Amino acid sequence: MKVLVIGKGGREHALVWKLAQSPRVERVYCAPGNAGTALDGVNVPIDANDFTALIRFVKKENVGLTVVGPEDPLANGIVDAFQAEGLRIFGPTKAAAQVEASKVYSKKLMRHADVPTAEFRVFDHPEPARKYIETREYPCVIKADGLAAGKGVIVCSNTEEALEAVNRIMVREEFGRVAGRQIVVEKRLEGEEVSIMALVAGRTIVPLASSQDHKRALDGDQGPNTGGMGAYSPAPIATPELLSLVETDALLPTVHAMKRARTPFRGILYAGVIVTNQGPRILEYNCRLGDPETQPILMRLKTDLCDLIDAAIDDRLADISEDLLEWDPRPAVCVVIASGGYPGTFVKGKMIQGLDEAAKVPNVKVFHAGTKLEPGGMVVTDGGRVLGVTALGATLMEARTSAYEAVSKISFPGAFHRKDIGEKALAKAI
Ligand code: GLY
Repeated sequence: MKVLVIGKGGREHALVWKLAQSPRVERVYCAPGNAGTALDGVNVPIDANDFTALIRFVKKENVGLTVVGPEDPLANGIVDAFQAEGLRIFGPTKAAAQVEASKVYSKKLMRHADVPTAEFRVFDHPEPARKYIETREYPCVIKADGLAAGKGVIVCSNTEEALEAVNRIMVREEFGRVAGRQIVVEKRLEGEEVSIMALVAGRTIVPLASSQDHKRALDGDQGPNTGGMGAYSPAPIATPELLSLVETDALLPTVHAMKRARTPFRGILYAGVIVTNQGPRILEYNCRLGDPETQPILMRLKTDLCDLIDAAIDDRLADISEDLLEWDPRPAVCVVIASGGYPGTFVKGKMIQGLDEAAKVPNVKVFHAGTKLEPGGMVVTDGGRVLGVTALGATLMEARTSAYEAVSKISFPGAFHRKDIGEKALAKAI
């Protein structure tokens, strides 16, 4: 079978790498891909949102399965477009992708399904939102309703910051007119965050291994929020008790409510969980795999990913209980190397050196994100997050040491990375 992966980030490189290992897969294409997917698969220069061109390509090449990485094409209806042509694709429909694409839909769904989450109100005008914020006795989080490239969630420390967030989203429309039409104002919760993802088909869910992201740009969780500067799996905070609570109190009621509402979810449901003193609470849902969490998770997955996706598409997920999923017991750590200036402005086209040396470090895989293959084989930077250097190790400490050894071999002008990926988990293990 030929497979097509849609997207061009580190998550998509990990998907290409993993799917290519399936004995059933003859070739993996990636549209549009990066330098890493060009090495482990075959790149196709089609934009992730150009559904007409993607469908034409899939038909011409007789691609048997399409796997969608990012949220944008899902929210724009790529699954509906492919299914209308009778093509096999993995991911939620446009209606089900609202669980991520609309923060208002997502919070109302959580309330309806009685999922533990922060208390909230929805506003479609700035003035009532301001009045509400001024009467709160706690810090708030202000969320633009629509997708805003991960920037539409503003975590505020005081009333002034929250009022400014309302202005940014609704008055100045910094995240676009549509995204700022409605906002969610919710109570800011305190605790440690963990990512819990599950394969879902209708009412059936199969949770994947837990992971933890590092969202801030700088060491010690300082600096601006990013797409994620590193991750590890498993997350020690995700005890069996915690995972079971998230499954029974959040994931299951959510997918049941979606099915009842005739918007069944099929794909990966990602719960952003915060572990508070009162127990786990759902911060948000995403309708796809996390990036960079996917990189360490897929390094540890031993089961054929193609079989899992097929089971979800064909409604056979109930046959694949959690115990049938095989995981490498060794932890994996991913350290992201980013372009200087990220998550703000940065320059592309910097020559990357040391990739071959890094690849020689045992138990390491260098996943590419914002990279481009130039004619002649030179690899240059092409985005904010450039590489996700991922390593397995007998212990978290060993995985971390190998990842950082490989990171030390790689250089490009302006490169930076966090030096403390996995430290929180290590502190817990001691
Ligand atoms: N790493 C966070 C996300 O994928 O949304």
